[in-house]
Amino acid sequence: MVKQSLHLKAPGNWINDPNGFIYYQGKYHLFYQHNPYAPVWGNMHWGHAVSDDLVHWEHVGIALYPTRPEDQDGCFSGSALEQDGRLNLYYTGIRYENVTPQNMHNCVEKVHSSSQLMITSEDGFHFDNMNDKKVIVPSVQNQEIGDSKDTRDPKVWKENGIYYMVIGSTCAGKQGRVLFFKSRDGRNWDYASQYAHSCFGAILECPDLFQVEGQYVFAGSPMCITDSKIGYRDHAVCMPVEFDPGTCTMEVQGDWQYVDYGMDFYAPQTCLDKDGQRVMVGWMRMPESVESDGKKPWSGMMSLPRVVEMEDGHICFRVHPETDRYFTHLLLDMRKRKNAGKTPVSKMLMPKTPFRLKTEMTEGETLDIGGYIITIKDGYLKADRSKVFDGISGHWLSNCTPKISDHDCRCQLDIFVDENLIEIFVNRGWYVLSHVVYGLGDYIDGCIDELWSRSEL
Ligand code: FRU
Repeated sequence: MVKQSLHLKAPGNWINDPNGFIYYQGKYHLFYQHNPYAPVWGNMHWGHAVSDDLVHWEHVGIALYPTRPEDQDGCFSGSALEQDGRLNLYYTGIRYENVTPQNMHNCVEKVHSSSQLMITSEDGFHFDNMNDKKVIVPSVQNQEIGDSKDTRDPKVWKENGIYYMVIGSTCAGKQGRVLFFKSRDGRNWDYASQYAHSCFGAILECPDLFQVEGQYVFAGSPMCITDSKIGYRDHAVCMPVEFDPGTCTMEVQGDWQYVDYGMDFYAPQTCLDKDGQRVMVGWMRMPESVESDGKKPWSGMMSLPRVVEMEDGHICFRVHPETDRYFTHLLLDMRKRKNAGKTPVSKMLMPKTPFRLKTEMTEGETLDIGGYIITIKDGYLKADRSKVFDGISGHWLSNCTPKISDHDCRCQLDIFVDENLIEIFVNRGWYVLSHVVYGLGDYIDGCIDELWSRSEL
């Protein structure tokens, strides 16, 4: 079985959303939306990977595949919950009403129905797709409650002995909303309430609701939240909310934020790690597949795990301690070499394996990582991938964070560089900006403080 480290990537062909992310019986399980047949979206299965530490992953095959009329055209996204030692998976089953004669994966006029299903495993590895799937929320037929087509991605949790489910939905494809269901046993569910907000886009996908230091946080992926003509129109957002478990009423508090300002990150999901920290991973969308070393073409990877924390009412995404531990070798410590501050490195060769750069940048400074250019301009951190994006058109080439400060803008940057992904944690994760890249050069040009890797240069 395929083993990977740092970033979980498609084992071949296609992956999208993280699903069923859980720490269960001493291991992290991360399932994912998977097309096992081609490096493009379609024919959704759940692929399955496990890890002891969130950084070394092993793909262990396919967990869920279509077997029932309700999920015959796809096992869409969902979540996992441990119950009495077993692992429950909750997901959306998709059935196309009509397909084109040439291609049964092509749904005519996007008319399909969505139902919510569950399946249980004794050990987290074996799933009886033939006999054990149960429909728990049949396709919603009442527009007042939900949408028969676009109601999907159940996230389930347990709070004070009661089970809760939040599902993404829409009001007739125009306004995103979420639906709440409740259960006493995790199997039989009753509709409780719903909530819509202007920041939920046209359809809300992959909702998640959890607490961080006693504060409820909502994360979700609204479709069409931007009207940009380039790049993706759907983006993951998050915000502090009020939530009353008794009535399942939710209210957005204050402003929403993008989870990641690079605009490639989507459909994140969280779980509690083994130390009880709230950890999030998201899907890094790739406009083109990669074919490396004669391996099968692959498309899609997961972000690094990010610890969700609140600071002054703002949602921060910190580097996970396991990612810290992964980078064992401090290859360069510029602060030690010259007693005073930073030292420019000119076209220094960078390691072949993933590496981590730490630096502090101020207004007007630039760092060039193999053609990927980071600058601070007018108080914004800006990243430009135009030289390392293979001439791909129709996508953003440069993005920036919100304004960091008006005066004396100083940014602490913690940058993780992998072959096809750069993730920049700004000021201890106050903002994160991540970009998919193709064909990075093998040098660093600019001022850095520290360079970390997992091996010697
Ligand atoms: C988000 C999403 C989900 C859906 C899945 C299908 O990327 O569209 O809403 O369940 O992907 O692959």
